[in-house]
Amino acid sequence: MPGVVIVGAQWGDEGKGKITDLLAERATTIVRYQGGNNAGHTIVRDGETFAFHLIPSGILHSDKTCVIGNGVVVDPRVLLSEIDGLKRAGVSVANLRISANAHLIMPYHVLLDQAGETKLGKNSIGTTRRGIGPAYADKALRLGIRVQDLLDEKILRTKIRAALEPKQQALRELSVQRRKLRKEAGEETKGATPDPLDGVVDPRPDLHAMVEEHISYGHRLEPHIADTAKLCWDALDGGETVIFEGAQATLLDLDHGTYPFVTSSNPIAGAATVGAGIGPTDISEVWGIAKAYSTRVGAGPFPTELHEEIGEQIIEQGHEYGTTTGRKRRAGWMDLVGLRYAVRLNRMDALAITKLDVLSGIGPLRVAVRYRSKEGAVLEEFPYHQSILHSASAEYEELPGFDVDLGDCRAPEDLPTEARDYLGFIADYVGVPIKLVGVGPARDQVVWLD
Ligand code: GDP
Ligand code: IMO
Ligand code: MG
Repeated sequence: MPGVVIVGAQWGDEGKGKITDLLAERATTIVRYQGGNNAGHTIVRDGETFAFHLIPSGILHSDKTCVIGNGVVVDPRVLLSEIDGLKRAGVSVANLRISANAHLIMPYHVLLDQAGETKLGKNSIGTTRRGIGPAYADKALRLGIRVQDLLDEKILRTKIRAALEPKQQALRELSVQRRKLRKEAGEETKGATPDPLDGVVDPRPDLHAMVEEHISYGHRLEPHIADTAKLCWDALDGGETVIFEGAQATLLDLDHGTYPFVTSSNPIAGAATVGAGIGPTDISEVWGIAKAYSTRVGAGPFPTELHEEIGEQIIEQGHEYGTTTGRKRRAGWMDLVGLRYAVRLNRMDALAITKLDVLSGIGPLRVAVRYRSKEGAVLEEFPYHQSILHSASAEYEELPGFDVDLGDCRAPEDLPTEARDYLGFIADYVGVPIKLVGVGPARDQVVWLD
């Protein structure tokens, strides 16, 4: 029985949270396999809006087990505040399990992410500044702190000391620079808000406070810490359906995305094996989630980006403001070159196209069917060379638009012909069936095509 992967097919925010919540009905277990609280997954249920950053999007089903897999980087403060928020909203988190092997985002990772972005200036990646890159870097350097370390004060202290040591120089420089800036701004007066870095430059007092703080997180998280790979095996071997929920998306993948304008993990479907601890043949179905148009938040190439009024119209109609950082997203036409690349890379079996309703009144609609390099070469495939991609322009097919509200459509025949043709064109081009279409943010605002 199936292991089902749900993966973003574009640059994130495709509506993975909503689709996961929906498909979770058929599963017993929902597993996040990568990323951290850079993600923002919004679910609208019975008129109530939930935004999750770390907690798997299946959590609103009280009878499902929700897992934060070993491939996720966990900021324990964010996780605990999400747990508290859910409890306040009356949602049970009793079935939440966190891999003992997942790595932690520590306060210095957040600072280093911010410092790195500031240093890059106009060349910055536009990260979410949540410490994702530095946490994964420490994991690769074998300087990471893991969830299980929260349960052993001695190990925790030794590991934090070791992790902080090579960062002292960078943090000290950052602190001096920050202090100078504050002084220039006239803030170096008594009673001014303390700089969060002031405590970090000296590892001794800071180490003590950091260990204390994290031990207390460990006490609170302990009931949820588990061998989550085994939990997945037991479910799969018992014939249950397990959903592996990706965060971010294919074109933000560290290896296959638009490097360096990517995240620091592998969102693609294949990475579910590593991030959850299962085998490739445990995955029997891959669902790609794409918006009916494209958006991107942060810097990096975006061949179908719209700079004119239509882009603004899509942003406003689609409420394209980030769930995590509140940043306005960049918007553009559907990019079938990128989508076909994502389909193959993830070996998708099915697509869900979300936010079709947003395109109402936008028509005529354009979809990119090829790129052209600045030298004039036709590019049918997503180019691997960064300079070619950065300067490529998209070439479009124009399709008739529609001007009716799709919010109440529930069956294929409720959709206007133009909308069905638009979906048909996408499915034909990428060679994968569209099984589900989103026509609004609410849970029931979907049309099943299959
Ligand atoms: P995720 O990161 O992929 O889970 O997506 P986000 O939650 O960041 O962004 C998707 C946004 O679109 C959320 O605000 C959803 O509530 C909303 N949404 C999802 N599906 C649809 C849809 O079919 N139509 C409309 N109008 N909104 C949708
Ligand atoms: P969900 O799961 C959209 C983008 C950031 C930045 C780049 C690197 O909600 O789809 P990072 O903080 O990961 O080092 O930033 O990746 N990014 C996302 N964009 N949706 C997301 O998540 C994203 N997570 C990271 O904007 O460009
Ligand atoms: Mg999001």
